[in-house]
Amino acid sequence: MSDLSTHLSTGNPAQQARALRTALEDANYRYYVLDDPSIPDADYDRLLRALEALEAAHPELATPDSPTRHVGARPASGFSEVRHAIPMLSLTDAFVDADPPAGVDANHEARDFVRRVEQALGTRNPEFSVEPKFDGLAMSLRYERGVLVQGATRGDGTVGEDVTANVRTIKAIPLKLRGAGWPDVLEVRGEVFMPKAGFAAWNARMLREGGKLLANPRNGAAGSLRQLDARVTAQRPLAFYAYGVYLPPDPDAVIADRHSAAMARLRGWGFPVCPENQIVRGIDGCLGFFRKIGAERDALPYGIDGVVYKVDRYDQQRALGFVARAPRWAIAHKFPAEEQTTVVEAIDVQIGRTGAATPVARLRPVQVAGVTVTNATLHNADQVARLDVRVGDSVIVRRAGDVIPEIVRVIPERRPANARPWAMPAECPVCGSSIERTEGEAVARCSGGLVCAAQRREAIRHFASRRAMDIDGLGERYIEDLIAFEHVHSLADLYHLTVDDFLAMKRRAEERDGAVPETVKAGRIATKWAENLVAAIDASKATTLERFLFALGIPEVGEATAKTLARHFGSLERIQRADAAALSGVKDVGAIMAAHITAFFAEPRNREAIAALRAAGVHWAEAAPQRTAEGPLAGQTVVLTGALTSLTRDAAKARLEALGAKVAGSVSRKTSFVVAGEAAGSKLEKAMALGVEVRSEAQLLELLAAHGG
Ligand code: IVH
Repeated sequence: MSDLSTHLSTGNPAQQARALRTALEDANYRYYVLDDPSIPDADYDRLLRALEALEAAHPELATPDSPTRHVGARPASGFSEVRHAIPMLSLTDAFVDADPPAGVDANHEARDFVRRVEQALGTRNPEFSVEPKFDGLAMSLRYERGVLVQGATRGDGTVGEDVTANVRTIKAIPLKLRGAGWPDVLEVRGEVFMPKAGFAAWNARMLREGGKLLANPRNGAAGSLRQLDARVTAQRPLAFYAYGVYLPPDPDAVIADRHSAAMARLRGWGFPVCPENQIVRGIDGCLGFFRKIGAERDALPYGIDGVVYKVDRYDQQRALGFVARAPRWAIAHKFPAEEQTTVVEAIDVQIGRTGAATPVARLRPVQVAGVTVTNATLHNADQVARLDVRVGDSVIVRRAGDVIPEIVRVIPERRPANARPWAMPAECPVCGSSIERTEGEAVARCSGGLVCAAQRREAIRHFASRRAMDIDGLGERYIEDLIAFEHVHSLADLYHLTVDDFLAMKRRAEERDGAVPETVKAGRIATKWAENLVAAIDASKATTLERFLFALGIPEVGEATAKTLARHFGSLERIQRADAAALSGVKDVGAIMAAHITAFFAEPRNREAIAALRAAGVHWAEAAPQRTAEGPLAGQTVVLTGALTSLTRDAAKARLEALGAKVAGSVSRKTSFVVAGEAAGSKLEKAMALGVEVRSEAQLLELLAAHGG
């Protein structure tokens, strides 16, 4: 049960009935009069059924104006009223039961309908005309002597709104009938809707032009028809399918002996009739159509929310007759609702295998489209901010087809007073490392790439892979088992693995997988396999800086960047010390990559993991930094002397190098210029003696700034 119906099922029956009526009346008003639905259809249906059940159990509570007696509110002002010559009825719904009683199938409501029809007619397997149930707006079109004279909405079923001017703008609706044989007065009923493609194109255009977006195709159709200026309606991509016909004033007069034949005649007179419509027999035929259309639903060019079964023969329809507001000869078999209301109980952060931090809403369990939904991804912090979802909020959750559930919107009226805006936590919930978000990127990431358990498997797999540390034979499966059986928690643990560890891991994996016990020979083979792995791990200790850098798995740092960085800086220490400015001066390293690199090395746990690897024997030959021949200062040699006040000497060096300059330790004739800080000594004297240009710290800063360093 949704929180809404729980909320309304408190108090004695009379209080409950009053609360349900108020809620339904409000919802009706929003839906029919304002075209601005406040609750999903599924919630409305649930409330209506709760009220129906209550009135059935306590007949003394029934009132003549109960929402169970009529299907809408009076029209809004602005359009004149139209009294329908023959009332526009609605359809009874048959729902799919998500939790049917033992021995009963999920479609028992639809089966009951067919059984009732069969009993009343005394026939088995009567013919049904089966049709999609379009998600648009019911329309009654009146033709006199073959000419469209009036288009009216349903309103409350008895009195609707005159929207003739708007209806005339819909190209799918004939203004003049084709062919011949139509009666003098003809009322055609059908659905006006906005096809999915038209809806998408309209919203794309609104995005370009900065106009107002339509919430969904149904609202698009309803809103378009209620425009007071028909020229606005004419712009909207609306369509129409006919699904009924009457000859006022006689509700029993017909143009054919059965519904399907009448639809065929309408088609001949120029009305669109849905091509999916079929004739089937009995419940099996109906359910077959329900499944077929359900499977095709996403691919259909228009939105539907179920299918309609109608007894095809008019004489049988007449025999069945009507209940209060709906025919006994038809039913709407609804697909499980794709939208439901529930409550956000928490917003957690999940860390993916590459460190991406994804906010996830934990929801009060709710059935959506036949599946219990307890979580919905919120994608990233921007999405949370856009929706303004807060813990405690009531939200509308949607799950369409196989799509993962998502929160469509918050219901602001039901926000608890103490709900606070959500923010991405500063620390990873798995490993405690800092969560960083690089400017210009939507995702935030845990910076503990080497230590975070959520990223461990991916980090180790990448570390061992051929283009990284190249540990021969250590495939993904073994890595998974090493982690599962707790032989490896960190990268450095790899270097402490023994032959016995591998054999123990293999034994436990075989037990788990139910593999046959090893023979002695197989045992010897296993030992050889383990020895080879230990040797391969040992061999990988001797590596290169570029491989090691790539193996660390820093976000965005691929093989090519690792190579450039290794060449440029020559040592891991220099890379670790480089700030974002120095890094982004390196060829092909952009601001985002530079930010990832500094965040990675700023995390103490990553530095500890690197130290542990080196302590375990991982080593490489370090080189002097190679100045890249590129950059605005390429070819210049600079000497720094004295104390700099606004930046460290290392930082100045990194930034000059990033711009292509070589920073030397001693002054010679080849020196381009010397930067003299406070208390500069012998190097300054030498520069003056050799006639080498001397610049101040301020001039250095100007130079760096001029080149964006
Ligand atoms: S027949 C007396 N056929 O469903 C029966 N209605 O509750 C009159 N609808 O708002 C309706 N597709 O606009 C019928 N193929 C279809 C339909 C359909 C959608 C809508 C109709 C009305 C509601 C009936």
